[in-house]
Amino acid sequence: MEPDHLLHSGYFNETIRSWQGTHSHLDVRYLIYPVFVTDLVSFDDAEEIPNFPNQFRFGPNKLIEHLSPLVSKGLSTILLFGVIKSENKTPDGQYALSPQSPVRQVLPLLRKEFPSLTIACDLCLCSYTSHGHCGLLNEAGHIDNELTIKRLSELALSYVYVGADIIAPSDMMDGRISEIKRSLIDVKLASRCAVMSYCSKFASCFYGPFRDAAQSTPSFGDRRSYQLPVYSAGLAIRAAERDVKEGADILMVKPAQPFLDIVKDLKQYYPNHPLAVYQVSGEYAMLYHAAKAGAFDLKTAVIETLTGMRRAGADIIITYFTPQLLDWLQK
Ligand code: PBG
Ligand code: ZN
Repeated sequence: MEPDHLLHSGYFNETIRSWQGTHSHLDVRYLIYPVFVTDLVSFDDAEEIPNFPNQFRFGPNKLIEHLSPLVSKGLSTILLFGVIKSENKTPDGQYALSPQSPVRQVLPLLRKEFPSLTIACDLCLCSYTSHGHCGLLNEAGHIDNELTIKRLSELALSYVYVGADIIAPSDMMDGRISEIKRSLIDVKLASRCAVMSYCSKFASCFYGPFRDAAQSTPSFGDRRSYQLPVYSAGLAIRAAERDVKEGADILMVKPAQPFLDIVKDLKQYYPNHPLAVYQVSGEYAMLYHAAKAGAFDLKTAVIETLTGMRRAGADIIITYFTPQLLDWLQK
């Protein structure tokens, strides 16, 4: 045995072992918990989401009740999604801007109850439009990009005014980051709000359970005219490059597990921007069901999966497993 063939000496006890790859360690500080707030139930109620095991749509008060013990355990950040009654959906998604919308209702409550919680708001129109697309449509039924980014930037401001710290546009329209940044500058709030761009978001089959949750499946067509083709690393990089130029504070790759090559590339191209990955609903469901069927232990599989995301270059992980991880990662 030659001395330079020895590897075991570098990881024979837990401490020395933990020094191998410190950048890939998991920490609750880097987790974001996605949650759904709705007016489909009363303020104090919640309902289970079909096809999305253990996930709920919450009325505003019930959401506070649900988050309270998690915040005590170290939850730092949530990502908020609104889900509304179908009778309030219109082609222009105007209800998103209503002071009655569940997101607008819950934001000040969250702000008051959890002053140090970082609140990110997903920014999109798909759960507010009657056709279920992420943007507004023109007469030909195609996305009207300019009109959409104007509407999104208004919506962004309406969230920031009542307590959002981060705006996370998931719509995939062109030019939305600079439109949002400009609006924030105009109202002098640009330094009080981060923009986390879903820059490299693919047209994926892994969004299934989420679309049940948000009731946002398009009523016709699909999202392939705005979400990225899964085979294109090039577009994923160009989209990030564009959003960096437009002033995005944080970048994102979504889904996470099938796209770790993109995570690695983006971290290399943009080492100075925090990079988030979104372990989406279908990835969550896959692990949940496989563990339930006895394929592996859930905790071990989730931690291994998320560690892989960190190793690829993710700084931040958005995951529905956050509540369990707050216990699992307890020192
Ligand atoms: C909608 C949106 C989607 C997700 C987040 N925001 C779905 C979609 O684009 O259809 C997916 C999240 C998940 O699957 O967990 N703009
Ligand atoms: Zn959308």
